[in-house]
Amino acid sequence: MKFQHLLVAQYAQACHITINREAKLNALDRETLAELHEAISDVLSDDGIKGVVITGAGNKAFVAGADIADFADFDAHQAYELASTGQAQVFDLIHHAPKPFIAAINGFALGGGLELAMACHIRLSVPHARLGLPEVSLGLIPGYGGTQRLTQLVGRGRALQMILTGEMISAEQALHIGLVNELWAPGELLERADGLLAVIGSRSASAVAAAIKAVNAGLLPNENGYETEKAAFSSCFGTADFKEGVSAFLEKRKPRF
Ligand code: COA
Repeated sequence: MKFQHLLVAQYAQACHITINREAKLNALDRETLAELHEAISDVLSDDGIKGVVITGAGNKAFVAGADIADFADFDAHQAYELASTGQAQVFDLIHHAPKPFIAAINGFALGGGLELAMACHIRLSVPHARLGLPEVSLGLIPGYGGTQRLTQLVGRGRALQMILTGEMISAEQALHIGLVNELWAPGELLERADGLLAVIGSRSASAVAAAIKAVNAGLLPNENGYETEKAAFSSCFGTADFKEGVSAFLEKRKPRF
């Protein structure tokens, strides 16, 4: 078996990556992060896969955070390396992926677990999930982009309230503040994620990639999102998908991308 801490399965054109450390509430240790990097790299280089669902094993936790035991004796240098490597190899890789990643939050999404969900493009949750960034209760702050992505998703005031108190919020509250997009019963969560991926997968893959790039650009300090949008918009005009999409509309048929 290629992975010790992940289950990876392909359904039609979607890949499901399940973090499989249920006894530790799917906490992310370094081995699991390395495996996630490998699994994500695999799906990104596989043209047959149009989107990814990330979830956790069992019904208690999506991911209950970075594995606390794993970094308990780290110094500042090691901590910096941990955050840099994790951000580059997993969290930013997902955030900037040219195909959609959906977090199917099946339970606790805490610390690095919520950061993983926030790196995804879309978040769906079960009603019993609890979400939070509890790092300050450990004498830490989030290190996988949480201070940035939570602020972008819910605004500075709500982000600071969650980060400074370290308190968990309910899935219902997360829905209310836009931290998750939709709530689904546990038995329907993956089906809904696959349904969304099927819709996105029926669209032009090059246009989907261009849209993610343009949306993300507006959140980067050194990029002008409007300029990126214009460049991405105009480059669509040179694609076979554009010709097919427009021809199909004019011929009153479904496009075949
Ligand atoms: N890192 C390492 N181990 C973790 C973990 C984490 N982030 N979260 C849970 N675990 C482990 C527990 O140590 C326990 O292991 P053990 O059975 O070998 O002792 C197991 O997972 C079950 O967790 P437990 O705490 O017994 O479950 P609970 O139902 O009482 O509480 C939580 C659930 C999520 C509230 C609690 O586990 C928790 O607070 N986890 C840490 C969350 C956190 O601070 N995350 C941010 C890390 S930076």
